[in-house]
Amino acid sequence: MTASNVQNASTKPVAAQLSEATLARFAREVAKYPADQKSSAVMACLSIVQQEQGWVSGEAEVAIGDYLGMAPIAVREVTTFYNMYNQRPVGKFKLNVCTNLPCQLRDGQRALEHVLKKLGVEDGGTTPDGLFTVAKCECLGACADAPVMLVNDRQMLSYMSDDRLDALVETLKAQAK
Ligand code: FES
Repeated sequence: MTASNVQNASTKPVAAQLSEATLARFAREVAKYPADQKSSAVMACLSIVQQEQGWVSGEAEVAIGDYLGMAPIAVREVTTFYNMYNQRPVGKFKLNVCTNLPCQLRDGQRALEHVLKKLGVEDGGTTPDGLFTVAKCECLGACADAPVMLVNDRQMLSYMSDDRLDALVETLKAQAK
């Protein structure tokens, strides 16, 4: 099955064109589940699209829904429930700082504000050069290591003092060159 453009109703978003390589990755995820439970692969498919495109557009949600036999709204419910899915384009480096209560008690909010100030952005904002998006996030499951943060949804960093935050930003800037 391939994802094709869908334009049969003026109110329905058009499905994104997905490459054969992307569809092959989808197929590998779907194969992990019984044939009548393809929708179980929705989170994996969303992650694949985000890895390849940097974010999950409404058009990509429609394409995933088409592929998995799900209504677009059902895909959207998953995208909006988990804050790891980017609902709009983000910077090359997405920095999420935990500000849930246990981290709040150990400088989580201060760490967030330090990064925001250093990069000159508001919570959820992206630097003009497109390098960094900074946002608070929910508990990352490492409360004892606060302040805790996540880089690009993959790398978790602990004990993020101002000095360590500054060093991280400089390291990522250097990586981007
Ligand atoms: S509250 Fe921040 S990691 Fe749990």
